[in-house]
Amino acid sequence: MNLLFQKNFQRVFGTFPLTGNQLRDSIETAADVGYRAFDTAQMYGNERETGLALRDTKIPRSELCIISKIHPDNYTEANFIKSLELSLSDLQIDQLDVLFLHWPPTQIAFDATLELLEKAHDLKLVNAIGISNFNSQMMERTNAKIQTKILANQVEFHPLIDQCVLLRKASETEIPLMSYSAISRGKIFEFEILHKIASEYGKTPAQIVLRWVLQKGVIANSMSTNKKNIEANYNIMDFTLSSIDMARIDTLNKTGFRVVTKEKAPWAPDWD
Ligand SMILES: NC(=O)c1ccc[n+]([C@@H]2O[C@H](COP(=O)([O-])OP(=O)(O)OC[C@H]3O[C@@H](n4cnc5c(N)ncnc54)[C@H](OP(=O)(O)O)[C@@H]3O)[C@@H](O)[C@H]2O)c1
Repeated sequence: MNLLFQKNFQRVFGTFPLTGNQLRDSIETAADVGYRAFDTAQMYGNERETGLALRDTKIPRSELCIISKIHPDNYTEANFIKSLELSLSDLQIDQLDVLFLHWPPTQIAFDATLELLEKAHDLKLVNAIGISNFNSQMMERTNAKIQTKILANQVEFHPLIDQCVLLRKASETEIPLMSYSAISRGKIFEFEILHKIASEYGKTPAQIVLRWVLQKGVIANSMSTNKKNIEANYNIMDFTLSSIDMARIDTLNKTGFRVVTKEKAPWAPDWD
């Protein structure tokens, strides 16, 4: 079974843009609350601090799912494995649970970068591999190219964005989606319907949104620095949204709001 859908790993604690005491305290709280999957990246510049914070939790390594992502600048023969080894040393581990390509490679470097990702897996530096911010056509190309199982495509996923093309491709390619910015960095709270549904279930709007993500078959990945919010975001397994309420939330996708726009991310592909 896909590692991310196992055990406790369907709820992932994100670490961007945290550093310093805020990162350490948030990871400590998240671990206390029950999170066991943690998402970092070379680009966040916090792998070393994440490693220290995870070590300090004293949670056995075997119970953790440590996820990181290669910076696109390192998609070269010379840098890929070398940078990954540095990430492992910063995180104080021998093997990552999941390594993502943070952004799609250029057209010309596409196949070669996938080969480097597979090489990292063959060298046992990573237990599993994934892609991030790939569009549906890139998911297909990845599937055709690569022999090793791709654990997930990590993409922006919340009710304000219509990701039905990616969801369809996920089931066709058997590359499931993992979310990022699952609560749209708070934008979602502007929409009255979520507050209404939240009060009907006796939950918070963030819990409704994260539950909606899980019921879409997508891994929930969110970040918070606030203990109450971290607890709420983790405690989403004791209720189920009805199909009617899932559909009510689906209607929000007409807003087409994106947290990570092309302006913010020079590596962004043509989104579906
Ligand atoms: N692959 C990629 O390209 C990519 C891109 C972006 C992000 N990511 C990953 O995805 C993770 C999550 O995404 P994100 O951090 O961008 O956005 P997010 O989780 O949607 O939003 C985080 C923001 O929401 C607030 N928040 C969290 N829980 C809340 C709650 N229950 N009630 C009210 N406010 C709440 C937090 O404030 P408080 O601290 O005050 O709670 C924080 O400001 C990142 O940390 C990162 O690991 C990956």
